[in-house]
Amino acid sequence: MCGIIGVTGSDDPFGLILDGLTLLEYRGYDSAGVALVTGRELWRRRSAIRGESIGELLRLGPTAPVARAGIGHTRWATHGAPTEHNAHPHVDCTGRVAVVHNGIIENHREIAAKLDAEGHTRTSETDSEVVAHLVEAELASGADLFEAVQRCAKVLRGDFALAFMSADEPEVLVATRRSSPLIVGRTDSIGLVSSDISAVLGTTRELYAIGDDEVAEVRPGSIRIVDAEGSTVDPVPLRVSWGVRAALREGYEDFMSKEIHEQPRALADTLVGRILPEGTTELEELEIPAEELASIGRVIVIACGSSYHAGLAGRAALESWAKVPCTVEIASEFRYRDPVIDASTLVLAISQSGETVDTFHALREAKRRGARTIVLTNVVDSLMAREADGVLYTRAGPEIGVASTKCHTAQIVLLQVFALHLALIRRQLTPEQAAVIGARIASLPGLVERAVGQFDTYRATAEQLAEVNDVFFLGRGHGYPVALEGALKLKELAYVRAEGYPAGEMKHGPISLIDRHAVVVVVATRGALFEKLLANIEEVRARGATVVVLCDEGDEEAGELADIVLEVPAVDEMVAAAVCVVPFQVLAYAIARARGNDVDRPRNLAKVVTVE
Ligand code: AGP
Repeated sequence: MCGIIGVTGSDDPFGLILDGLTLLEYRGYDSAGVALVTGRELWRRRSAIRGESIGELLRLGPTAPVARAGIGHTRWATHGAPTEHNAHPHVDCTGRVAVVHNGIIENHREIAAKLDAEGHTRTSETDSEVVAHLVEAELASGADLFEAVQRCAKVLRGDFALAFMSADEPEVLVATRRSSPLIVGRTDSIGLVSSDISAVLGTTRELYAIGDDEVAEVRPGSIRIVDAEGSTVDPVPLRVSWGVRAALREGYEDFMSKEIHEQPRALADTLVGRILPEGTTELEELEIPAEELASIGRVIVIACGSSYHAGLAGRAALESWAKVPCTVEIASEFRYRDPVIDASTLVLAISQSGETVDTFHALREAKRRGARTIVLTNVVDSLMAREADGVLYTRAGPEIGVASTKCHTAQIVLLQVFALHLALIRRQLTPEQAAVIGARIASLPGLVERAVGQFDTYRATAEQLAEVNDVFFLGRGHGYPVALEGALKLKELAYVRAEGYPAGEMKHGPISLIDRHAVVVVVATRGALFEKLLANIEEVRARGATVVVLCDEGDEEAGELADIVLEVPAVDEMVAAAVCVVPFQVLAYAIARARGNDVDRPRNLAKVVTVE
């Protein structure tokens, strides 16, 4: 959830670190800090002005000392409040070793107690600071920084990415990781460490992954990596598919509105070459042989947040087209159950970032239990992409806004392509049926474009709802995952209590909450359950609720039941979710903006969730 960057061998490490932190800020923005080695001393500055820390550090630019190397961090607080003394980098008692950390050191209390007993003085409430003191102790016993980090990593429990520097080894950065991502890179004269490819793309595309429990030594122009046993490892080059420009706002008010508008392109790119005109499919990165896929007995989708909703949206296609039993599970719950899995189970993890720790560990657990695994992700060579047996890449480009928009719709569409693919392999559809379905999926970028084209209309409608405090989102069938996603978006961006609920389930309890103060948003686009849904709308109307109806363009029957109408182009219900969710993205966006909220960096959240 935090961002790490380290640079060595540069004439302007401060500038490169601040550029990197600006690109990493979407990962966490409670506070930020930088440490540089200047001469044989450490210089450190930190700031904890929420969302403004990097700006504050930038203002220090002219006073930053001449240096060749440094490390920087942008933080999403877990242990200890988002204050300056809890901001990274943390230093040891001597002030000569600095560390930045992502993840959680689970045994930090135990380590802290031991360090305290040995006389170390800690100055923060973080779990991270203990690592600086552990390294200090190893250095005092004669180790160099690389050896000290090797020894220290062995006593740590938890998930972590760590980068270190020492005033006594001015041009050396040392990095290690377990589960949390961390990469290293180089040019002929510079060495880099980062938690995220995008932060270093402006300097180099020569990037390498660090494996679990490996330790990397980065010097100007060179990288050395050893594994947990101390044997030298050949670094694995990363494939880089994005340019630097993709992570810029390019004239939009914010990343979120840019990314909402990018959805038609994201979907079109995700579909390129994957559905042929006759309805056949090509999924070349999948890597699992067709005969193995044909024999799959069931699919378990694991994911979190919006990715979980994308899984729910794709389930109908997996069941109805491919005739494969499918359950969709919250990754953080799945991992700690005792799920029954065998070799005929396909576990499909969905994760925009490919890093979410809950999903990553659930995927590992499924693999350990013998499942075949696939990850559907937007990030090439991400942690999960390297872990799973097969990969399905959305091609949405980098998503910077914390709220998932273009990646969410791209996930839904790619999952539908995968369902069609599986259906063909399993011979569950005739060529004619496959051609019809293929054409429907192929029409989605155009339909989403029409929905996105109504951005200003949706926004104006949403502004009538700027004062809402409590909202129910209801849907049935294809509309239910859309309702869940609408509620999540409103919560995370507008800070409005919102609940997504199956419309048919309201009468079993929650309808007691409905009175004339309630606002109920209903996904009422046409489908098999349309008539039943109209009855559910009548039920909440009868109790005085303000009813917002999302319906097909020109649908008077649905529109008549509404106080407020949001329209989308009509589309077959099996593939409707990606279209229907667009007005809800704009609804949450507009209400959040009307309330003065930062839509790209909502409070308490981070883009990449690397803690449990
Ligand atoms: C979506 O708007 C959220 N910010 C969040 O729910 C997100 O979808 C979730 O954290 C999962 O992330 P992932 O897709 O990167 O795994």
